[in-house]
Formats: sequence, C-alpha cells, structure tokens
Amino acid sequence: ALITMRQLLDHAAENDYALPAFNVNNLEYIQAVMRAADATDSPVILQASRGARAYAGDAFLRHLILGAAEEYPHIPVCLHLDHGDQPSTCISAITNGFTSVMMDGSLLADGKSIASYEYNVDVTAEVVKIAHAAGVSVEGELGCLGNLETGAGEKEDGHGFEGKLTREELLTDPDQALDFVSKTGVDALAVAIGTSHGAYKFTRAPDGDILSIETIAKINKKLPNTHLVMHGSSSVPQELQDLFTTYGGEMKQTWGVPVAEIQKAIPLGVRKVNIDTDLRLAMTGTIRKNFKEKPDNFDPRTYLKPATALMTEVCKERFEAFRTAGKA
Ligand code: G3H
Ligand code: 13P
Ligand code: NA
Ligand code: ZN
Repeated sequence: ALITMRQLLDHAAENDYALPAFNVNNLEYIQAVMRAADATDSPVILQASRGARAYAGDAFLRHLILGAAEEYPHIPVCLHLDHGDQPSTCISAITNGFTSVMMDGSLLADGKSIASYEYNVDVTAEVVKIAHAAGVSVEGELGCLGNLETGAGEKEDGHGFEGKLTREELLTDPDQALDFVSKTGVDALAVAIGTSHGAYKFTRAPDGDILSIETIAKINKKLPNTHLVMHGSSSVPQELQDLFTTYGGEMKQTWGVPVAEIQKAIPLGVRKVNIDTDLRLAMTGTIRKNFKEKPDNFDPRTYLKPATALMTEVCKERFEAFRTAGKA
C-alpha cells in the first residue's frame, strides 16, 4: 500500500534528512527511481504533474505505482500530485489513488497571473479540509518562483511574466508563511528562494544574491515544525549538459541548484526536494548518444535500458546526498 507524504516527511524531520521528489511520466522513470531506492534503502515520493497525468492517464499511473510498491514491498512509496492548479484537480487526484496533493494557489488557475494572498489561503484551506478527511496530505506554495538575476517571475508554462518583480516579491515572506500555515493547515510548504523550473535557473554558479538559503533559515525560525519544500531544485550537472550537447542537443551553458546548497537547507527544515529536469536530461542525453552510436538499431529496449540506468544513477546520488539512504 502507498503511504502519505506526511508520514514520510515527519520521519525525515525526526531524523534530519530530506526526500528527493522525482517527477515521473512513464514506466522507465518509475523503474529508475525504485531501483535507486532499492539499492540505497530509501523511501520514495513519486510525483505526477497535470502534464504527467494527461500523458500517461491516471489508471496507468496508479497501476504502475502499485506495481512499484508490489515489486519493492520494503520501500515506502507516496504518490503525490505536483502543482495542482485548482481544488478540482486535487480532488480528482485523491479519487484516483494519490496519497498526497499539492494545491499551488500562488498562481490563479489560468497559470498566468499571480494570485492574491487571500485567494491562495482560500483554495489551499479548502483542499486541506477535503484531503485530510480522505487521509491524504497537502503541500501548499507561498511565493512566486522566479529569477533573482532578471526579476522574471515564473508562470506555469515556465516562462517569465512581463515586467520585473522585486527581490521581496520573489522571496517568500517569513511572517506571511507563518500566517499561511496557521490558516490553511498544510502538511508541507513550498517556498520561493530564487529557484525556478527547467534547465535555465542561473547564468552563473549561484551565490546568496541569487539563491537565498537565508530565506529558508528565516522561515524556519518562524516555522520550526513545518516541513519545507524546494521546487526547481534540479542541479543540472555539467556532465548531463555535456552528454546532451555532445550528441546534438541544443542547450546554452546553464547552472542549476548545487547539491551542496540543498545540503545546507536540510538542517533548516527542507524535507522535500523536487527534481524533474535532471532525469529528463539523463534520459534524453542517453537516447541521443545511442541513436548516434548505433544508427542501425531500432529496438527501443536497447536505448531505454541505458537511459533508465543513468536516471537510476542520478537518483542514487540524490538519495545519498540528502541522507535519504538507509531510511526506508
Ligand atoms: O512543475 C514542473 C514539473 O517539472 C513538471 O513539468 O508540467 O511539464 O510535467 P510538466
Ligand atoms: P526542476 O525543473 O528543477 O527539476 O524542478 C522540478 C519541480 O520543481 C517540479 O515541481
Ligand atoms: Na509560485
Ligand atoms: Zn515545482
């Protein structure tokens, strides 16, 4: 059986570690995460976005994940909805077997405009009420993810808003975070600290000016017992950029969130770290390499197998680095 995010994050807080939450879309992603968890004895959060649900279908997703739990009965697994855009999306996830949902009320349901604080409180509290009655955990989000170098706040499609946001607008306010958690009752809170989704997070190795671990420290002072979540936390390692570009992929040089920075955030209350881009790069880079090296091959298993193996390696590294390893 699947377990809730709350159970996993409470255990992480008691033992001061974090769980990577990997976005999954198909069989190979799920195999990669589960093989890494099995090899490192780690508990697992598998998360599906609205895009993943549309791609795979809820029935396939649910059964793939139940398959994972059956194949690895000793590994605790949570199925989490990533970035629910409105209460109805969270409710349909609950109906379809998710044991945890994110209500992201930081944007309006159109995904294009920043929501008012009151709207965010209202929709999140509504989801908490319904989810908790069903024994399901809830993650909320307060603040606008975005780039502190350019002032671009992030819309749901990953593109920036027109016009610049200030540093204040791009960092979660600690007093507001305290108010938000007490009004909504969320199990976990995603915060804005200068990270953004996708490969292009920073144009240089980030320092405190553009990646604010200090904001996490301030929030943790106000909310020492709340589980914090980092979004946009792929590290976008140079080796994965090189693998992708060596075999014809087009990507300008970029920087992600260094693993060492995430490690600093764990003693400050970060318990869930969202990772999608790194697995996308591992999968696509490996497939590109195989297409280039064996142009006569057309058996998908022969390139999906090494692609899954490289995703497994990335997952193992994160389980070790976040001290999830050994906690299953
Ligand atoms: O929040 C963004 C995640 O990386 C999921 O991306 O919506 O393209 O599946 P997606
Ligand atoms: P990345 O794009 O950095 O992998 O972030 C994923 C994420 O935050 C999903 O919610
Ligand atoms: Na946001
Ligand atoms: Zn996210």
